[in-house]
Amino acid sequence: MSSHPQTQQRITVRKLLQMKSEAEKIVCLTAYDVSFAKVLDDAGVDVVLVGDSLGMVMQGLDNTLPVTMDDMVYHSRCVANGLTHSLLMVDMPFMSHITPEIALQNAGRLMKESGAQIVKLEGGSEQCDVVNALTSNGIPVCAHLGLQPQRVHKLGGYRVQGRETEAAERMLEEAIVLEQAGADALLLECVPAELATKITEAVSIPVIGIGAGIDVDGQVLVLQDILGITPGRAPKFSKNFMQGADSIQNAVSNYVEAVKAKEFPQQEHIF
Ligand code: KIV
Repeated sequence: MSSHPQTQQRITVRKLLQMKSEAEKIVCLTAYDVSFAKVLDDAGVDVVLVGDSLGMVMQGLDNTLPVTMDDMVYHSRCVANGLTHSLLMVDMPFMSHITPEIALQNAGRLMKESGAQIVKLEGGSEQCDVVNALTSNGIPVCAHLGLQPQRVHKLGGYRVQGRETEAAERMLEEAIVLEQAGADALLLECVPAELATKITEAVSIPVIGIGAGIDVDGQVLVLQDILGITPGRAPKFSKNFMQGADSIQNAVSNYVEAVKAKEFPQQEHIF
């Protein structure tokens, strides 16, 4: 049975802002196809993210760099067909937003061809012109700071960002300028909890964290991680919600409840 009433309205970007102001935690989870999209929608997930993590979890790639715009359009169109309640957020893949003009064309495709309600893009203050161009043309943007997997080769691996004072101050500043440029939301990946809290308090837009502690406005995880089917060692920030659940639907519902009740993440998932 659906855990949210059929009459419940579609989540909007405006609703996320209201949730931040009312201290209601935002629950976000990735999906890449219609079947899982329906499960998430039914469980009351607020935001379904079609992440470019699909490169790894759908295509078996080593990283997100080869993921194309056509891949993103295809998977998000599949997901959109399963949603009646959740907000659909879609990633801009590597090199798809290197100028405002290119970003407008590509984000426009995600909105027109696949029903995205907000796009997410990795990058700091150098993305301000892009964020401004998109948002002033009616395309909501979630900026992605902290660990940016599309920069894996520049970073030399996947590691926690913002541990040093200078890097932490820079990240805080970037969050502020991205909000000023028009960003509607912010995602923080693998950031020390103390810094994530500071950023969440400094901006008025909702902040969704993955490996960013409990005091952000919402949480996101990769679906395959919470179902315990990611090959190899699970990331420190994730939790297998299939443990103790008798179905995928229950595992997803347990994740939703844990985030809403501020019972996830726990100390063991935090940097
Ligand atoms: O691509 C993705 O799934 C993401 C999440 C890890 C936040 O960006």
